[in-house]
Amino acid sequence: MLLFKHVASLQVFLSRRRASGQTVGFVPTMGALHEGHLALVRQSRTENNITVASIFVNPTQFNQSDDLQAYPRLPGPDIAALEEAQCDVLFMPAAEEVYPPELNTDLRIDLSGLDEPMEGAFRPGHFAGVAQVVDRLLTIVEPQRLYMGQKDYQQATIIRHLLRETARTTQLRVHPTVREADGLAMSSRNLRLSQDHRSRAPRLYQTLWWAKDALAAGKTVSAIEKEALERLQQPGFQPEYFSVVDGTTLQPVIDPEAHTVIVACLACWAGDVRLIDNVVLRSSMQAASTGQG
Ligand code: PAJ
Repeated sequence: MLLFKHVASLQVFLSRRRASGQTVGFVPTMGALHEGHLALVRQSRTENNITVASIFVNPTQFNQSDDLQAYPRLPGPDIAALEEAQCDVLFMPAAEEVYPPELNTDLRIDLSGLDEPMEGAFRPGHFAGVAQVVDRLLTIVEPQRLYMGQKDYQQATIIRHLLRETARTTQLRVHPTVREADGLAMSSRNLRLSQDHRSRAPRLYQTLWWAKDALAAGKTVSAIEKEALERLQQPGFQPEYFSVVDGTTLQPVIDPEAHTVIVACLACWAGDVRLIDNVVLRSSMQAASTGQG
């Protein structure tokens, strides 16, 4: 694996490869890598000649400086994990490379309200920072394909919108959420859970699955959201939201029949660790591909 710390040298390398007809897949991350991240690298390897992963803890997407300071930084194990996954290139820039003072990296695009509900409501400014850094990284890497996880459903939806608004030709590939054996979505934050919280954290996923069954059984969305919050509420667990939304617009669902893709998204504190997860409750595209609908 080649390691680049500077934009200029990465761009020279990639432009040579592109000139010889090679395709580039890109996996942006903030490090502290786990199987969820590595699954994106593996998918990119099967679809592109060159896979570029980046590790950059982006300051502009943290709305609390404590959170930025506390974010785990594990370059040694991350490099070893990427080598093991046979990633071709790692881009690990300093902040001045991503945001050089002489360059205006402000992003002026309308996120069409996609950044307002759910994570946006609890983490003001977060998605503006995510959109800014992903846009900047795309300008640097110019990949054919961009790999992101369904784990961050709202983030992937906003990046799909960004690609369209900025008329980029990069295709977005969203990889299904990679989970632990007991259903807990993999996350760098899981390591910070106490043993007790960790053992009860599968409750989040179970509640999402319960909601899928409840919707199929005809329960109303408002009753599902209310009961899901009750199910999440247990000693040491504090839900922030449980929202059943349209899978494209992220707007609330009132009449499920009026939507083709419906997703339930949640955020819940387990002790002092904030966890997020989501499950697609219904997708007519899914039904079509399994011949059920
Ligand atoms: P990070 O949290 O490091 O995640 C990097 C990518 O890995 C994201 O696309 C995320 O959705 C995906 N991912 C994380 N856990 C996953 C899991 N369990 N299953 C599948 N995919 C998973 O998300 C970010 O970084 C940043 O916001 C970033 C996009 C890099 C911009 O700074």
